[in-house]
Amino acid sequence: MSRLTRDWGEWSRVSLYLNRCQIDTPTSLVNAAWGHVKRLRESVETVVDFGAGDGRFAKLGDYGNYVGYEIDEERYRGRTLPNNAKLINRCAFSDDIADADLCIGNPPFVRNQDLPRGWRQRASDVLSRRTGVSVSGLANAWQYFFLLAIASVKDDGLSVLVIPYEWVSRPSARALRRYIRQHHWSVRVFRLADSKFSGVLTTSSITIVDKAGNDGTWRFFEDRGGGLYRPLRSPTRSPSGVIEYQVCRDIPADAPRAIRGLSPGTQKVLTLTDGERIRSGLRIDRDVVPCVTSLRHMPADVRELDPDTFERHYRHPGRKCWLIRTDNDPSPALCGYLNAVPANWYETATCLERKEWWRFRMPRTPKVLIAQSFKDAHPKSVRNGIGARAVGGVAGVHNVRDDQVPQLLAGLRSRDLRDRVVAYSNGFYKIEINQLNTLLRQEFGTTGANA
Ligand SMILES: C[S@@+](CC[C@H](N)C(=O)[O-])C[C@H]1O[C@@H](n2cnc3c(N)ncnc32)[C@H](O)[C@@H]1O
Repeated sequence: MSRLTRDWGEWSRVSLYLNRCQIDTPTSLVNAAWGHVKRLRESVETVVDFGAGDGRFAKLGDYGNYVGYEIDEERYRGRTLPNNAKLINRCAFSDDIADADLCIGNPPFVRNQDLPRGWRQRASDVLSRRTGVSVSGLANAWQYFFLLAIASVKDDGLSVLVIPYEWVSRPSARALRRYIRQHHWSVRVFRLADSKFSGVLTTSSITIVDKAGNDGTWRFFEDRGGGLYRPLRSPTRSPSGVIEYQVCRDIPADAPRAIRGLSPGTQKVLTLTDGERIRSGLRIDRDVVPCVTSLRHMPADVRELDPDTFERHYRHPGRKCWLIRTDNDPSPALCGYLNAVPANWYETATCLERKEWWRFRMPRTPKVLIAQSFKDAHPKSVRNGIGARAVGGVAGVHNVRDDQVPQLLAGLRSRDLRDRVVAYSNGFYKIEINQLNTLLRQEFGTTGANA
């Protein structure tokens, strides 16, 4: 395998990517994908599967011949396949296939931060040459495989892939959606119930692009279980559709703005509970500052994170609530703490890329904290009365004046956003940062906080 991945970059990055790829598709889902193929085609001759794993898609369908590309030989060694199927140990992006009747499969769901640089470069070069589409730097692995699938089937071919549902609205997939629209291919997206994959925190879909359809229609369905699907009026259930994404560069520098919570590289080590802080001899302000990684445990009616709420809901119950400081020279205590961290605890792409694995850029302190995922009508939000940093799935709102905060909190709480964002996973919804920025624009216009 190292022969095949030599140009992707450092081995630590490559093995991280490959580990993230190791998800097997449940048989019921492989069957469901083939069920869609059967409904759309009487027969298929040539089938390709990019990232074929153990070749499970080869085992359950009817076809003339099947070729599965798999980078990791270990995934299929010793497996038997039907006589008309073969797996080849090659990178999916190495051959220009353009004559398949069907591309089927479940490509890797690896986040853009975890893609080896050489992998991304190669895949984008191939796709740009073959399709003219420049894949966004923020795209996750499945987007590259999705484009590859479309490029690899004939002019009347079919692509049936298991990919995250969010492709229907994510800004990073805009070029891909535009490419499909420009060609008037017909699109069917079947949103799956959450339980299909354990350990993958995203709502999946079976997405079909039918080049033979050629009517430019896009239809959305929700999995009702037992092979039944309910049509949706839009990618969400609401006729008004998804909240639009504010274009970042259109937000004036001093206007209210939501900023994503810090991804420090590893929360396990770089954020601490109060107990962990005390045991490591780390001092508040000198070594750590307050942070919030989740608002899940905060009662919905709390409007301010003040010292008392911080104590009651974070420090006392032992939740992560301190972020190490990286904007000073570390004290001997902090150095001692960082030096004692076992290397395998910070084997993340973000940490491995840094000169000093722990030194992230210290984020600013937001005025308001908002959870990006939510289960009820709207995300939880609070005034940030203790100067906490926003981390992970908690976004921060900046450039709002103190007297604007009540209006912002009331505005957010008066909305039901469940049908205006795409479902995330396990009954949760997720609002993206630039959707929050649209809400801020609707609330305050584009006037700066100091106007
Ligand atoms: C999500 S798994 C799916 C495996 C299998 N198709 C299934 O459905 O169970 C994705 C597979 O893609 C393989 N893969 C990742 N990058 C690849 C590449 N560039 N070329 C070929 N295979 C790749 C991974 O090793 C992994 O086995």
